[in-house]
Amino acid sequence: MKPTLSIIGAGRVGCVLGRQFHQDRIFTVCDILNRTMDSSLAACQFIAAGTATDAFAQLRPADIYMIAVPDDQIRACSMKLIDTGRIQPSTLVFHCSGALTAAELGLNANAASLHPMRSFADPAQVAATFQKTIFSIEGDATATGPLAEALKRSGAEVVAIQSDHKPLYHAAAVFASNYLVTLMDAALITFEAAGISGDLARRLAEPMAQETFNNIFRLGPQRALTGPIARGDVQTVLNHEDALKKWNPELAILYRELANATRAMKSRL
Ligand SMILES: NC(=O)c1ccc[n+]([C@@H]2O[C@H](COP(=O)([O-])OP(=O)(O)OC[C@H]3O[C@@H](n4cnc5c(N)ncnc54)[C@H](OP(=O)(O)O)[C@@H]3O)[C@@H](O)[C@H]2O)c1
Repeated sequence: MKPTLSIIGAGRVGCVLGRQFHQDRIFTVCDILNRTMDSSLAACQFIAAGTATDAFAQLRPADIYMIAVPDDQIRACSMKLIDTGRIQPSTLVFHCSGALTAAELGLNANAASLHPMRSFADPAQVAATFQKTIFSIEGDATATGPLAEALKRSGAEVVAIQSDHKPLYHAAAVFASNYLVTLMDAALITFEAAGISGDLARRLAEPMAQETFNNIFRLGPQRALTGPIARGDVQTVLNHEDALKKWNPELAILYRELANATRAMKSRL
């Protein structure tokens, strides 16, 4: 018989994992608990399985609990599972945070963290390409072993991460995803400050960004770097800083920090 899985926090990540485990017949999805009943019902619909609830006291015993709530709620939800007697000696519990370790769950055994290195801005898109997902996993071997096996059966790749490396690992992920968004937004609003419409700004930025992005992974950061710092055009960079300072002093600071980081990167090459 398949192990049963209940989900505490079926939002973007919880819904995608729940649906995948259900579709691939890895686990039987049991209960789905969000803060509101409407949200739990919507999650059941996305996953196409599970019973919606909004109360820990209504959770039925399950073999595995996935806690996919925001990071600052993980500890409280784990405590509620303990307080309501849901954790038996053989129960597995995992969370999905990239920044926190399994220790956040406050359990004595069978705890893991399992982090998908994907951006879940569009959950349906992640679900459609789930097999491309790489998960990092850490925690008790009694939990990481079966969970890694389940993920591999769903076609994902699983890599082990050392618990004490998680903060740096997650900082890297934030550079690779979140701050890329910040940078692109800076580019778009700077185009607009130069009198270019929002639509044209996106059409100008997209091929530049896509080409650079592809070059980073095709050629490596060293060969992907072009522009005034790569060429040594010092005055051009100073002119940019002057223009930015007059229009948006905060962006001027960001520009200067990035210029410094880019020079440091160039000197490492
Ligand atoms: N988003 C990403 O790209 C991404 C990528 C990798 C890992 N993660 C990690 O995955 C976890 C979940 O992130 P997410 O982006 O999926 O979050 P999310 O979309 O905001 O979903 C969070 C879910 O948790 C529920 N929830 C919040 N507090 C709760 C509580 N106290 N009790 C029960 N349910 C609660 C919410 O219910 P309501 O709908 O009722 O409010 C919601 O369904 C986090 O640890 C995050 O670090 C996220």
